[in-house]
Parts: sequence; structure tokens; C-alpha cells
Amino acid sequence: MASRLKPPNSRYFFSPPLQKPTNKPPHLFPHLPKSLSIPHNDTKIPPGPTEKLIINGGSKLSGHVNISGSKNSALSILAATLCCSGTSKLTNVPYLSDTRTMASVLESLGAEVEFCGNEFVVSTDGISSVEPDSDSVGKIRGGFFVIGPLVARFGEAIVGLPGGCDIGSRPVDIYIRGLRALGAIVELRDGKVQAYAANGKGLVGGRFQLDFPSVGATETLMMAASLAKGQTVLSNVAQEPEVIDLAHFLMNCGASIRGAGSKELHINGKDRLHGSCYSIIPDRIEAGSFMLAAAITRSCISLSPIFPSYLSCLIEKLLGAGCKIVQCTRDNLELSAIPGIFGDDLQGFDIKTRPFPGFPTDLQPQTMAFLSTCNGKSIVEESVFENRMNHVKELRKLGLRIQVCGSTALISGKERGRGSPIYGSRVAATNLRGGMSLVLAGLAAEGITEISGISHIDRGYENLEKKLQILGANVKRLNPRPNLVQ
Ligand code: UD1
Repeated sequence: MASRLKPPNSRYFFSPPLQKPTNKPPHLFPHLPKSLSIPHNDTKIPPGPTEKLIINGGSKLSGHVNISGSKNSALSILAATLCCSGTSKLTNVPYLSDTRTMASVLESLGAEVEFCGNEFVVSTDGISSVEPDSDSVGKIRGGFFVIGPLVARFGEAIVGLPGGCDIGSRPVDIYIRGLRALGAIVELRDGKVQAYAANGKGLVGGRFQLDFPSVGATETLMMAASLAKGQTVLSNVAQEPEVIDLAHFLMNCGASIRGAGSKELHINGKDRLHGSCYSIIPDRIEAGSFMLAAAITRSCISLSPIFPSYLSCLIEKLLGAGCKIVQCTRDNLELSAIPGIFGDDLQGFDIKTRPFPGFPTDLQPQTMAFLSTCNGKSIVEESVFENRMNHVKELRKLGLRIQVCGSTALISGKERGRGSPIYGSRVAATNLRGGMSLVLAGLAAEGITEISGISHIDRGYENLEKKLQILGANVKRLNPRPNLVQ
């Protein structure tokens, strides 16, 4: 069994329950005629370049928000279905452009993918290629993860370089060195990474220490090692909850993995893995973003399902700023930032992003927006990605006072007694989390904020404006695309 994350010593933190393993083969939506499944080749729909979010700021939020399944878990687990013969049924998959792109990556290999709302069913029996469509791989970072399962199960993989947010150079050298340690010959040819099992059969277990605990490299190597001959020990691995979720899925499928959530993974390779049914964990980054939405608007909202232990860093910072946790159960949290409850206004704080259990880089831009509304000066240091400050230029257009020097930002909060220092303006999202920081700033701004480039935000937030509207925000989408979610 994989090790569980140790909860911090607070009654507010609970770890998620392990899912009961099931070996039952899933059925392809037996209750639905095939024609009712939602089509996912909607890449034919124009991307909607004029789509905008219009936010009339200043509304208080209240009520409850349902958190979707984790995007990043879903991407790696969709890739992992390639390790398994037969069919896997994944539930709680967020219906997002990124998960649909990942479905296209799998389909380009010959896998069958059907989805209905948040259930994705993947059958890999018809895999006929080891070279996924480069355009799809080039759109998302997770597309590259298929290199591990493909070379491990089929002895060969030819995968284009990955895409994802433009937040600095995102090399794949750790993936390559790790696959070599498992006996693969790996070369970069014609802009693609080509990997072959050296003995012409499959990978062999080995020892490998990652230079940096890369999430994607850890996940890719864990998938590859699950089908390699013998034992693999991976050290200095990523400890992110999404890595644990992937390990649980693989174990459901018959893999033998010890140590998920710790710094070292021990994997006993199996000859084959079988498909299984699995439910994706809630998205901690979406949950954190909504907590920051409550904080920036000085509101009180509840969220579920969430695993508070996965957000302990953010929760501790928000408590230090003066927010209150009104209620916290195993998978539900109510957060209040209403000034009446704690007297004075919220106080700024410093953060430095780090791999889990450190402060998540994927919440850095949203936190920066919130800090601009707090008292005092705050420092935000980005240590995971080399260029994750692109959003500052746009945040400044909304009045936020942020100075950047390299990977560090100095945020000047509001002056005591003054109202929100943020005002509405026209801004453009250039990446996913930076885009969400603009949404949060827009919620707190005086006047109207118009955000373009929202296809970036749609990559990671399911039904964003609907969820915000339910909480009472004044948000609408201009020129909406046809809604593909039932
Ligand atoms: C994943 C997440 C992303 C999150 C990030 C860090 C997915 C699909 N994306 O991205 O949302 O922001 O983890 O929590 O799960 N690096 C190398 N060489 C490599 C691999 C990585 O130098 O071979 C460096 C990167 O350039 C970066 C750092 O390691 O500076 C962290 O990247 P990594 O953990 O790999 O992030 P991703 O898996 O790409």
C-alpha cells in the first residue's frame, strides 16, 4: 500500500480516504445509448477568440461551491490507462479542454475513449501506433507522459515535445535520463523524443535519482517502472497528491508500488496491468483558487469535496492573514474572510513556491492578486518555474502595485482604512493560473473587468463562471461557445 500523507497537527486537516481497489471490469456506459455520449472531437468548434469574461466587481460571495476532479491527476491517469490492457473507467474527470486534448492523444494511438459528463471510459485494446498526434501533445504538458507507458508496454515510443503554459523553459531531460536508467535507448530526432527498449522486449527495473522532484517525470517513470522487469527505486521524487492518486490508480490495476507521497518510490514491475474503475481526487488548485476568491472579496463560502491536508500551506497562510475556518470536516471546508468576524482587515504575508508539501506554484498568481488587497507589503518568490511572473503586467492594469525583480515580486497592499486598490479594466489572460489571478482581481475590483484569452482559463477550471454565479458573483461570458456539458 502506498503511504498516506501525514496530516499537520491541526484538527482542520484530514487526509483523503484510500479508495477500495476494484478489479471489476467497467462497462462502457451500459445505461446510455452510444449516441448520447458527449462528442469530444470538439476541436472542430472555433476556439472563440472573441470570448471574454465580464466581471462587475464588488459583489460579496456566499454559499457553497462544488470542486471538480483534479485536472493534473486526470491527465496522468488518462496516460496511465495505456499501461493497462482492457478497459478503464475513470469518474470525477473534469470536463475541460485539457482532458479532451488528452483524450485526443490517446485516440491518435488507437485507443477508444468515450465520455459522458465526468466519466471517461478508455479501452486500449486497439492500440495501433506508438506515435501520438504531435499537435495534441504540443498543446498540453501531460501529453508527453504517454512516453512512459508506451515504451514500457510496447517497447517503443515516438513523442513530440510537450506544450502547456508558457511559464519558462520546460525541459524533459529528467524524463529522458530516467527512461535510460530503465534500459531504454532515448534520442531526440526531428523534434521528437524516440525511446526504444534496448533489449527489443521491454524495460528493466533500475535505480534513478531525479535532480529535481519533477511531477511529470516522477509520474512518467512510475508508469514505466510498473511494467519494467524487476524492481525499480526512484529517489528524490515528487510528493504531490496527484502522484499519490496516480499510484493508487496503478495499484488498482495490479501494479506494486510502495512509498507514494514520500521521497522514494519502490516499484515491482509486473508483466501486465489490467483496466479498472477509479475516481479522480478533487482539484486542490481549483479549491485553493476558490478559497482565495472568498478571501479577496472578504466573503464566507464553503467548498466540497476537498482534502484540507492537501492545501495546508495555503490554509495556514490564510489563517495567519486573519481568515477563519468556520467549519472543517473530512472533505468540506468553510472559510470566512468577513472583516466583522476578525475585527481588523487582513494582513499580507510572504510566500515562496516549492514542490509539495511547499506552497504550490499553481496558486502563486492567484495569491498575488489577494495580497494586493491586504495590509502591508508582501513578497512572493517563485522557485519552481523560471518565468512565472507574466501575469503581473496584466494585474498592474487593474491597479495592483507589484514590482518584479527576477523571480521575486514585491506587492504593496492597500493603505489602512482605504477601500480596494483594484479597479476594472481590459486585460488578457496569457496562461491558466495567471488568467485565474485576473478573475480574482476582477471580483474585488471597483467597476467592470473584461478578460480576453479565456481559453487559457478554460483549460483548468470547469464551469468557472457558473460556479462563481452560484456564489453570487456578477460574471458573464461574452460570445459563449456551444455548451458541450449537459
Ligand atoms: C506539473 C503540473 C503543473 C505544476 C507543476 C509543478 C501537470 C500536467 N502539470 O507540471 O500544473 O505547475 O507540476 O507543481 O501535472 N524540469 C526540468 N527537467 C525535466 C522536468 C522538469 O528541468 O525533465 C523542471 C521544470 O522546468 C520546472 C520544474 O522542473 O522548472 C518543475 O516542473 P515539473 O514538476 O516537471 O512540472 P510539470 O510536471 O511539467
